Amino acid sequence: MEDLRSFGLITLFPDALAGMLDFSILKRAKEKNLVRYHLWNLRDFGTGRYRSTDDYPYGGGSGMILRPDPIFRATRVACASLAGMDPSPEGSVRLVYPSPQGAVFTQSVAWEWANDPRPVLFLCGHYEGIDERVLMAHPFEEWSIGDYVLTGGEIPALAMIDAVVRLIPGVLSDHQSVLTETFSAADEFDFPQYTRPPDYEGMAVPEVLLSGHHLRIQQYRSEKAREKRDRVRPDLRAISRKKSEMAIAPQEQQERINGNECH
Ligand code: ADE
Repeated sequence: MEDLRSFGLITLFPDALAGMLDFSILKRAKEKNLVRYHLWNLRDFGTGRYRSTDDYPYGGGSGMILRPDPIFRATRVACASLAGMDPSPEGSVRLVYPSPQGAVFTQSVAWEWANDPRPVLFLCGHYEGIDERVLMAHPFEEWSIGDYVLTGGEIPALAMIDAVVRLIPGVLSDHQSVLTETFSAADEFDFPQYTRPPDYEGMAVPEVLLSGHHLRIQQYRSEKAREKRDRVRPDLRAISRKKSEMAIAPQEQQERINGNECH
């Protein structure tokens, strides 16, 4: 199917990832045939009798490094499979290496990937890193999910997959709300929400939300969201000024949806 999106992962922990990819929205997206997940166990491509995948760093230092040879073998097999041909043409698969040394993955990057039909292959590193020759030989994009160091690339890869999959049309029941949300997600906070009961042990829902006055409710919500954003994330104010740029991706999405409806 033309719109089926593929996400592949090369990992030493395929079982842990399989479990995470098999619940909630990620599972439903798969059941709706909108996405497919593929896992390759790096150990299957290991070297020698013990299928070794790591070794000591040249030049000394603590920890182990993932060897290049198992990664090259696994990448070749995974790319051929994801691209549907062997060897896969250069650039037909987006190669991603999650790493704290990468550029920071943001909502606008998630939109870019959601709009790119190419399969995405994640190479999940572990230990102290991977042999640099892998990054020299293949156009792996390095992406970080934030300025902290995790024990491996599995959790970052899942975070990126989750952020992208929910933007694919048809995955969430209300795609319009994703378009609206993403228009502002980079620079705005969500406003505070309330549900029943209207009064819980003396804590009352703000009067304006019960008023039925849509304009006042809207004003109240954006005021509260802005107040919190400026207190918690003053840095986002600058991004707010670039809002028109951020609006491009959702607009393109909307055009795609409109286009599909016409044919
Ligand atoms: N691997 C380890 N830490 C990471 C991070 N913060 N982002 C992406 N990959 C990582």
